Amino acid sequence: MSPIEQVILNKKTQVNPIWIMRQAGRYLPEFREIRKRNTDFIKLCLDPNLSTEITLQPLKRFDLDAAIIFSDILILPFGFKQKVEFKKNFGPILGDLNLEQISKVTENDFIQRVKPVYEAINLVKNNKITKNKSTIGFVGAPWTLLVYIINKQSPKLKLKDNFFKDFSLIKQTLEIIEKFLKIHIKNQINSGAEIIQIFDSWAGLLDDKDLDFYVYNPTHSLVKYVQSLNVPVICFPRGIKNYKNYCETVKPDAICIDYEIDPIKIQKEIRIPIQGGMDPKILLTDKDILKREATKYLDIFKDHPYIFNLGHGVLPETDPNMMDYLVKTVKDY
Ligand code: CP3
Repeated sequence: MSPIEQVILNKKTQVNPIWIMRQAGRYLPEFREIRKRNTDFIKLCLDPNLSTEITLQPLKRFDLDAAIIFSDILILPFGFKQKVEFKKNFGPILGDLNLEQISKVTENDFIQRVKPVYEAINLVKNNKITKNKSTIGFVGAPWTLLVYIINKQSPKLKLKDNFFKDFSLIKQTLEIIEKFLKIHIKNQINSGAEIIQIFDSWAGLLDDKDLDFYVYNPTHSLVKYVQSLNVPVICFPRGIKNYKNYCETVKPDAICIDYEIDPIKIQKEIRIPIQGGMDPKILLTDKDILKREATKYLDIFKDHPYIFNLGHGVLPETDPNMMDYLVKTVKDY
């Protein structure tokens, strides 16, 4: 069993496990090299050999304990035939949402469109580099996907005023999202994903009164689904104010915290295994500050099941040498 799975099962580990969100990505020159030649991001995600190579790039450099499959949460709307593009220096742009067309998309159609993701998981899982490491599959949470699908681009700071206007559209879209999320999770697991992480990057945009409907209920349903397949699930509700409430309601196996969260307070409040927390910007400073900050998290979670990670994805401007230093600091602690 890999150290990450041991932590999730509340077992003692020999090493401090670590993986990093966006560990395969633009801060690595070998990623940028491949990306330069592959301008269509979705197409790149759907090339099983290239996405396997990208997934393994950080593992060749650093002693990380997991491979997270190189894909994107927006593969889901792509799979049910909403147009998805990525514009340089802007982010994702989605096409119009055609509910009539989408309701006709079958499980089989979806699988045919996204199948290369499952092939890549299989290749990663069976590569000898991932022996004793976890292969992590992932999805976006229903709420975060709804945001992209309706808003058709990143909401940046806030949702448009008319976001909630058409409730019938929202309800139907959420049902479709949940249906395909389950299909996508099941196929990732059948292809070799040993842990599922659910990214709720925009959980922090909602008022408390809306959390039950948009975050707690649909995410809890997904969590139960993953657990029914005997696979542990880590949730990352970025920006949510009350992580304790979230854990008690959604009941994931482990919780990933963002960098705004006070680690001392959360350690006292939450009993389940914790992941993440350190601000990715720390990697842009210097080695002394990096060591001090990483050690702070390791000290605080010394007696708590803890998986080292950041409080959001590693930034593109990060120096790979700083990542190397971070991994060594965590392993030598
Ligand atoms: O290494 C990994 O973590 C695995 C791969 C991964 C990517 N996206 C690859 C990617 C994962 C887990 C994601 C999740 C994802 N995608 C989230 C949730 C996590 C988060 O960051 O909050 C979200 C919201 C998305 C949607 C998305 N994808 C956006 C908004 C963008 C553009 C902005 C940005 O961060 O670059 C992407 C593009 C994307 N997804 C890149 C990568 C490596 C950059 C692609 C490039 O331009 O080279």
